[in-house]
Amino acid sequence: MINMFWPYISEKVSDAVVEVLKTRWIGQGPKVEEAERKFKKILNVPFPVTVNSCTSALHLALIMSGVGKDDEVITTPMTCSATNIPILYCGGKAVFADIKKDTMNIDPSSIREKITDRTKAILVVHWAGYPCDMDEILAIARERNISVIEDAAHALGAKYKGRPVGSLGDFTCFSFQAIKQITSGDGGLLTVLNKENYDRAKLLRWYGIDRAFQGDIYWKYQIKEVGYKYHMNDIAAAMLIVQLDDLAKILKRRKEIADKYHEGLKGIDGLRLLSRSKEKESGNWLFTVQARDRKGFTKKLLDNGVESHMVHVRCDIYPIFGGKRLDLPVMNEVEPGYVSIPLHNKLTDEDVDKVIKTIKSGW
Ligand SMILES: Cc1ncc(COP(=O)(O)O)c(C=O)c1O
Repeated sequence: MINMFWPYISEKVSDAVVEVLKTRWIGQGPKVEEAERKFKKILNVPFPVTVNSCTSALHLALIMSGVGKDDEVITTPMTCSATNIPILYCGGKAVFADIKKDTMNIDPSSIREKITDRTKAILVVHWAGYPCDMDEILAIARERNISVIEDAAHALGAKYKGRPVGSLGDFTCFSFQAIKQITSGDGGLLTVLNKENYDRAKLLRWYGIDRAFQGDIYWKYQIKEVGYKYHMNDIAAAMLIVQLDDLAKILKRRKEIADKYHEGLKGIDGLRLLSRSKEKESGNWLFTVQARDRKGFTKKLLDNGVESHMVHVRCDIYPIFGGKRLDLPVMNEVEPGYVSIPLHNKLTDEDVDKVIKTIKSGW
C-alpha cells in the first residue's frame, strides 16, 4: 500500500532522546531553549515560543488577540476542527468566510464581507502548506486594528514573497504532531512579532507563573494572568533539534514530489489541480486535487494499492460551530470533490509514478 502519510523520524532521534533521558532535565529545560534558538535561525522568525501543540498555540494567540465572550473571529471552514475549537475555548464565535476555489485558502473579499464591530481577529489556514493572500489579509486587519492569526500547521518552511511564514501575521502557529513535516510526537510553535507578546506567551504557556530568583535560596513567584500547562518538554525539543537539521532536505523532497504530481497530472479530464504562483512557496504538506466522482477516484486508487483522503472535513458543519453555512458558495462547490493523494518523505519516485499512472488511467 502506498500510504497517505508516514512520520519522518531521522536516524539521529533515538540518540538525541536517550541523551535527554540520562539527564536531570526531561521537562522544560535547556533543550527547549536550544530548539527555540534553532527555530529562530532556521525558520528566520523573530520570536519563537515552543508549546505542546498547535492547538495550544492557537489558544494562546486568540487570548493575546483579546478574544473573549461573544467576540467574533473570522475563519475558514476548510480546515481541521483544531483550528476553530480554540475560539470556543475563549467563549468566542467562529464566523466562517468563504474560500478560493484555486487554492482552497480563505478569500480576502469574503473576510471583508463578514467583518463586524465584534470581530477581534482574522484566523487563516495555509491549506496544504500554500500561503494565503497575506498582503490583502494584513491590510484588512490593519484597517480595523485587529490581529491576524495564521494556522501554519500545514506550512512549516513556507514562504510568501520571499518572507518566511511565521514572520508575517501577529501570531503564527505550527504543529509537530505525528505526521507533520517534522515531528516530536506532539508539539507546537507560536511565533509572534514583538517582545511584549513574546514575554506574555512565555508566561501563558506555563500557568502564567513569573519566576525570579530572589537572591537568597528561594524563587519568588508571581501570577498576574491565568495561564495554561502548554509548555514543551526537553524530550520533544531534542527530537525537533535534530530533525530541524534535515528540514531543508525534507522540504526539497516534498517539493520534488509535488512538482512531479503537478507535471504528471495536468490536463486530465475530471481532475483539477490547485494553482501555484512564483511568489508563494508551499510547505507541501498535502497534495490536494479536486476530482469528479471522488468516491470512484478513491476506490480506483485503493484497488491499485494507493490511499487517498479528504484529510479535513469543512468544520462549520459541526453542531458546536452552529451547523452548515449556506452562504459559502465556493466551499459548497468544492466540498464534494476535494481529495489529497500521498505526500511524504518515504515515497519513492516509483511510488509517485504509480500514483500518477493509476490516476491517468481513469476512474
Ligand atoms: C490545520 C490544522 N490546524 C491545527 C492542527 C492541530 O495541530 P496539533 O495536533 O499540533 O494541535 C492541525 C493538525 O493536524 C491542522 O491540520
